[in-house]
Amino acid sequence: MEEHHHAHDHLHSFWSLSLLLSFLFIYSACSSEPYVHIVYLGHCPQQDHQLTSDLHQQLLLNVFESEEDAVRSMIYSYTHGFSGFAAKLTLDQAGAIARKEGVVSVFRSKILELHTTRSRDFMGLPLRETLDDDEAPHGPFSSAFSDDVIVGVFDSGIWPESASFREEPGMGPIPRTWKGECISGQSFNPSIACNRKLIGARYYLTVREQQLGPLDIASDTEYRSPRDRLGHGTHTASTAVGSIVHGANFFELGSGTARGGAPRARLIVYKVCWNKTGDGIGKCSEADIMAAFDGATRDGVHIISASFGTSIAQLLPFFVPSADIGSFHAMRKGVTVVFSAGNYDYSPDPSTVKNVAPWSISVAASTIDRSFPTRMVFDNTITNLIVMGQSLITTQIDANLADARSHFYNGTCSRGRWNNISASGRVILCFSTVGLITSVEAVDAVKKAGGLGLIFVEPLAGQVAYVDVVPTVYVDIYQGTKILHYLGSSEWRPIVQITPTGSVVGKVPGPVVAYFSCRGPSALSPDILKPDLSAPGVNILAAWPPNTPPARSSSDTRSVNWNFQSGTSMSCPHVTGTAALVKSAHPDWSPAAIRSAAMTTAYTKDTNSEYFLSGGSTKPSDPFDIGAGHINPTKAIDPGLVYDTKAGDYVIFLCNLGYTQEEIAKLVLPGTDKTCPRVPTSNSNLNYPSITVSDLRTTMTIRRSVRNVGRNRNAVYIPRVFGPSGVEVAIWPRLLVFSRYRDENTYYVTLNPRKRSEGRYDFGEITWSDGFHTVRSPPTVCVNNSGYGAESMSYT
Ligand SMILES: *[C@@H]1O[C@H](CO)[C@@H](O)[C@H](O)[C@H]1NC(C)=O
Ligand SMILES: *[C@@H]1O[C@H](CO)[C@@H](O)[C@H](O)[C@H]1NC(C)=O
Ligand SMILES: *[C@@H]1O[C@H](CO)[C@@H](O)[C@H](O)[C@H]1NC(C)=O
Ligand SMILES: *[C@@H]1O[C@H](CO)[C@@H](O)[C@H](O)[C@H]1NC(C)=O
Repeated sequence: MEEHHHAHDHLHSFWSLSLLLSFLFIYSACSSEPYVHIVYLGHCPQQDHQLTSDLHQQLLLNVFESEEDAVRSMIYSYTHGFSGFAAKLTLDQAGAIARKEGVVSVFRSKILELHTTRSRDFMGLPLRETLDDDEAPHGPFSSAFSDDVIVGVFDSGIWPESASFREEPGMGPIPRTWKGECISGQSFNPSIACNRKLIGARYYLTVREQQLGPLDIASDTEYRSPRDRLGHGTHTASTAVGSIVHGANFFELGSGTARGGAPRARLIVYKVCWNKTGDGIGKCSEADIMAAFDGATRDGVHIISASFGTSIAQLLPFFVPSADIGSFHAMRKGVTVVFSAGNYDYSPDPSTVKNVAPWSISVAASTIDRSFPTRMVFDNTITNLIVMGQSLITTQIDANLADARSHFYNGTCSRGRWNNISASGRVILCFSTVGLITSVEAVDAVKKAGGLGLIFVEPLAGQVAYVDVVPTVYVDIYQGTKILHYLGSSEWRPIVQITPTGSVVGKVPGPVVAYFSCRGPSALSPDILKPDLSAPGVNILAAWPPNTPPARSSSDTRSVNWNFQSGTSMSCPHVTGTAALVKSAHPDWSPAAIRSAAMTTAYTKDTNSEYFLSGGSTKPSDPFDIGAGHINPTKAIDPGLVYDTKAGDYVIFLCNLGYTQEEIAKLVLPGTDKTCPRVPTSNSNLNYPSITVSDLRTTMTIRRSVRNVGRNRNAVYIPRVFGPSGVEVAIWPRLLVFSRYRDENTYYVTLNPRKRSEGRYDFGEITWSDGFHTVRSPPTVCVNNSGYGAESMSYT
């Protein structure tokens, strides 16, 4: 089967390279250390899990001397959601298996990370902002109680005693479709931990222990059970589906009612990320994650929330990253998978967005219109200076001020340069002069030097306040310079008084895109817009284990039940909650329809009716920052129209990327009628709720289909177009007439470049409206016609 091998070459181009290197390696070192590899075989060919598992053993037998060795090397056999296994293989064994009939891909199990902004802080947002009581769904669609929806959170586990995971009064029995379990383990007694809210819990750590060493149970830095050590999993789970809890606060800050996006949905946790180092960034092994995906499809989960990914954007083909495989087969079974788009320590570059498969959702992070102003009064006995900063300070500070500007190292106030400054009893003013750097180093330095507090000056205020081991106030360079001049004009070190932070809602324009949120376009398939959506991901207040220090550092001795975190890790579960509400209101909707509802109802204008600002800059945001816009849970339940995408459409998508018919046949269940077109088409035609053309040379027509899901059976929708600049947009037909619920209609968008451009993106808006619903899609178009002759420029 030569063409078969050819098909493999495409997927394994990276692998052939490593095969080549492995031979070199063998010659030089005469050995090849076994490593955990994932062997992926596509969809499950049969219902019989034992048969599938036997097939996996059979494949292993081919490359091992003895049956015993083969059995010993097997770690996981995946037989529910998809077919595949994880095994310890040398590079040449892996190479031999990759060439076997039926194998789609073979890859090393990588270590992924929870999507944390900086080394000590995860990402954080106020739950009560998610869905206010007066915004709760009502009318014919009010069945959205969502206690029939099961949400699986793949994260660092759960603190089951948190009030967020109590049963809501009157919660009915667990849905009968549920096949999961609540697994016992260290400090985790299922009969106490699980209830009608937290209906299940599992943990996966076999490969994590093989790759990163055994869990350090003795020093009490992890639990060999679903119990959460890091806090991240408890935080994200409560953001997604936490029950309604009154009086949530962090030392009175952010005080209010905490509630998840879908407070009545059921929760099962899959602990796949584990503590490893002191930095609090959970490490998750891909082979364990695959096992969780396999388990979740078997358990009957409806929505999966996964706030992790690679730490750097990797250009791996689809079906090599575990997240693509797991989410593809989950989607095939009707399970919506929501991922975080990833964080960046500094202002992110383009094409840094993670988790870009078109069958899942990738979520960016924004602020909300809530801020944590902190008042600082500087007093040199002659004059006063008052400066406002952002912080999460809970007690008043009175101190002398010291300027650490002369102690910079690479622009950061860092440990090595503190020998000569007495910080004890002082608040340190520290300038971050090189781009947007994190304050982690500066905080550590002040802590080591015995300082009372830190005023951290950023070029542009990042809008993020962190819970830290040293109280830290964030100010922008303008305010920072004012303080510096004041210091210079004074003979004595002035006194500074910092009053505890207050929270203010509605005084600052929001949302603003978080500076750390990873940006599009997707490098892997630039004709599909990623990220899909944005959601609150800055200063999020949610449940926290009382045993985990809120600043995630052992020098923090505080114990809290609620904590602030920031990151796309925190925005992802907001979308998960919304997806659960939509699923509950419309149980028969596909993952694509649910995503469409969330995307087409999202908004892009802030509280000042302007496009959101892009955090860390002074520029307005565009779809590469926020996708279709900021999530609007109430509207998402009643979107009017949906863009659905069927498995067959993803087949065409994969064909266009160069996968062959044979390759694809292994991924999808038989009976998918779509076959690869003879000539590849543009992936701009995938029936996505956004429209993206990454290489517009001449006139191009794109097709979209929409389904009527509004309560108004007879509906007439009219389009409105705005931008993109330099592109003429024509829509046909000019009316979409629906006479029944579920009626489908097709429309065409013709894009005609009216300028010469060499690969510059422009953005616009296409909105269909029936007077009640506004169904919005952002067109994102890159005109690239400079290399063309005059005949294609016949327009003026
Ligand atoms: C995580 O592990 C590190 C190193 O073992 C430890 O210092 C840290 O305290 C642990 N984190 C928590 C929250 O226990
Ligand atoms: C920054 O610090 C590192 C060591 O931490 C050093 O190697 C590097 O040269 C420094 N860069 C500058 C521009 O000072
Ligand atoms: C720090 O103190 C040492 C000794 O007290 C002195 O030699 C050195 O010059 C000082 N460094 C700075 C930057 O002031
Ligand atoms: C623009 O077109 C040129 C060829 O005319 C091509 O090499 C380049 O990759 C295209 N740029 C983009 C962004 O597609």
